[in-house]
Amino acid sequence: MSSDFLARATALRREIERHNYAYYVLDQPTIPDAEYDRLFRELQALEAKHPELATPDSPTRRVGGKPLDAFPKVRHAIPMLSIRTETDTEASGAQAFDARVRKELGLDEHDPPVEYAAELKFDGLAINLRYEQGVLVQAATRGDGETGEDVTQNICTVHAIPLRLRMDSPPAVLEVRGEAFMRRDDFERYNAKQREAGKDTLVNPRNGAAGSIRQLDPKLAAQRPLSFFAYGLGEVQGWTLPPTHSAMLDALEELGVPVCAERRVCLGVGELVTFHDDIAARRDQLPFDIDGVVYKVNRFDLQRTLGFVTREPRWAVAHKYPAQEQLTTVLGIDVQVGRTGALTPVARLAPVFVGGVTVTNATLHNQDEIDRKDVRVGDTVIVRRAGDVIPEIVATVVERRLLPEPPRFNILHSYPVCPVCGSHVVRIEGEAAARCTGGLYCPAQRKQALLHFAGRRAMDIEGLGDKLVDQLVERGLVHSPADVYGLSLDTLAGLERMAEKSAANLVAAIETSKATTLARFIFALGIRNVGEATAKDLAQYFGSLDKLIAATETDLLAVRDVGPIVAQSIVQFFAEPHNLEVVSRLRKAGVHWPETSGMQQSAGILAGKTLVLTGSLPTLTRDAAKEKIEAAGGKVAGSVSKKTDYVVAGEEAGSKLAKAQELGVAILDEAGLLSLLASDNNNTQQPLDF
Ligand code: IVH
Repeated sequence: MSSDFLARATALRREIERHNYAYYVLDQPTIPDAEYDRLFRELQALEAKHPELATPDSPTRRVGGKPLDAFPKVRHAIPMLSIRTETDTEASGAQAFDARVRKELGLDEHDPPVEYAAELKFDGLAINLRYEQGVLVQAATRGDGETGEDVTQNICTVHAIPLRLRMDSPPAVLEVRGEAFMRRDDFERYNAKQREAGKDTLVNPRNGAAGSIRQLDPKLAAQRPLSFFAYGLGEVQGWTLPPTHSAMLDALEELGVPVCAERRVCLGVGELVTFHDDIAARRDQLPFDIDGVVYKVNRFDLQRTLGFVTREPRWAVAHKYPAQEQLTTVLGIDVQVGRTGALTPVARLAPVFVGGVTVTNATLHNQDEIDRKDVRVGDTVIVRRAGDVIPEIVATVVERRLLPEPPRFNILHSYPVCPVCGSHVVRIEGEAAARCTGGLYCPAQRKQALLHFAGRRAMDIEGLGDKLVDQLVERGLVHSPADVYGLSLDTLAGLERMAEKSAANLVAAIETSKATTLARFIFALGIRNVGEATAKDLAQYFGSLDKLIAATETDLLAVRDVGPIVAQSIVQFFAEPHNLEVVSRLRKAGVHWPETSGMQQSAGILAGKTLVLTGSLPTLTRDAAKEKIEAAGGKVAGSVSKKTDYVVAGEEAGSKLAKAQELGVAILDEAGLLSLLASDNNNTQQPLDF
């Protein structure tokens, strides 16, 4: 019996680690997460019941064991050294290194170029992984180079690190050295979660990695996802060393150890410079932070000839890029008013060169963020610009705060009224943002609100784009969406870059837009938290605008997917006299839609049905087909499943049609859909008389 358990545990371990490798190293998931979890739980249960079955390389170690009081010290079999850093940003860094190497090797200009291995300088924490007989027995930090700390438990939670090497006859000892780090997306995701829970956020990915590895409770370490790339070796016994550094990295990759793909063998200094420039140009797009590139003499025999100066090898050098974090001073805190009226605090900074650009301001997101970081005017702050992310203040250097201390910054105190339109600024409970209550009357919000109003999914006024809206608002021709319907051909033709013909087209488009639907109209109003789907639900539920305007929060809560926040936004919107006036003017201008008696009306022919559209239909656009289906109570989904009721297929329908045939889902063409809709005699909506 127990041999059955042993066999099952072994099989589970093998399978789980195979999926782990596919997911974390190859980035090619093989099974759904839920299935992985099932296998994992089965193994955990088996090991809990039969502790004698647990092994040091079991994937169950990846969730973290018991907390420690302190990390045991580890003396490195071979010291962990650092490398010389060339801090300049020019090609001369590579040149100086190549010149030194050639001189030490006794080469002159007639000798062939030296072969180098070029790789990235990862910004994390150096780790030594010790494998004995192919099993990870110990992971240690660099410490002072001679003695580090045993962080095995935490390192086991790094899924990309193999707990067992993928080889049949593993060597007695193989120490792999590399960098543990946090990817930018993992960093952002972790911080977003912390922010939501009102907990402390990580300053940058490097601190995140360091904090995770120094965490005494491995269960907490497991919550901060780390990655790892190998770049070297420590002690080796019983393994034949390949002749070059690049071949060694290839060999480690074969053993299942993650090695960064951004590595290159470079012949001579010219190719090092090309590598440096290539990576510099793509630095922002890499999924993790680097602080430069590293050049190493590729042949191990030449590395041995070159040897070390003090604690640094002569055969390697780090060539740094401009830092992604710098210190600067906060000159002031301004606010910007966004489309929804949110006041976003922005720190004005003393100009500073960071991450390759000069930064003069950085967003502070909202009041919570300012409070958490305690940023005050006059403070010295750390500014970070990494990847495509907009510059951010990561922390205030409190020790450098000027005396007497500047006051805390509070948006509501500094801006009791909107700096653009003078309306009151409020902070709604449960929301992070302070908002201008001016709505459509705030010029800062007006442009964006107009663009939204005219948008394809709202009133669909073709030709009313960015440039035109800017002119209309700036010249005071349009204050609210209702003014759009008062624009004359003469006025429009008088605008910059507006030919007579386009002015006429726009007038026609404005006229056409008057015949709309209630859902489009509600969406076009730009009520906070009311997106397209909610607008459709509201239109269907109430059937008439006046009923929606009269609805209380309790009434609104009866509508599908409407929660207290949405309900509150709607009531607040219609409580604002400005907004009611805009609505009334729009109606007077002739904007109209068919109204219904709302939910009292019996459901449409497609009520409760799910349809999938595929291929191009002969006459209907995708949006038009969707609108018709939804008007008849149906839902349009993106993919075909057993729950799909109809697939509407047009020309060049592909895999969705095949899937429908495979699952036996009913298939319609456009004509079929239209006749189905025509048979829906509940669809008799009466236009309202204005
Ligand atoms: S080689 C003897 N290669 O940079 C040479 N180091 O001072 C040992 N680092 O803390 C280091 N990326 O953790 C090497 N591709 C890379 C590296 C790298 C990052 C770190 C390393 C150490 C420091 C070197």
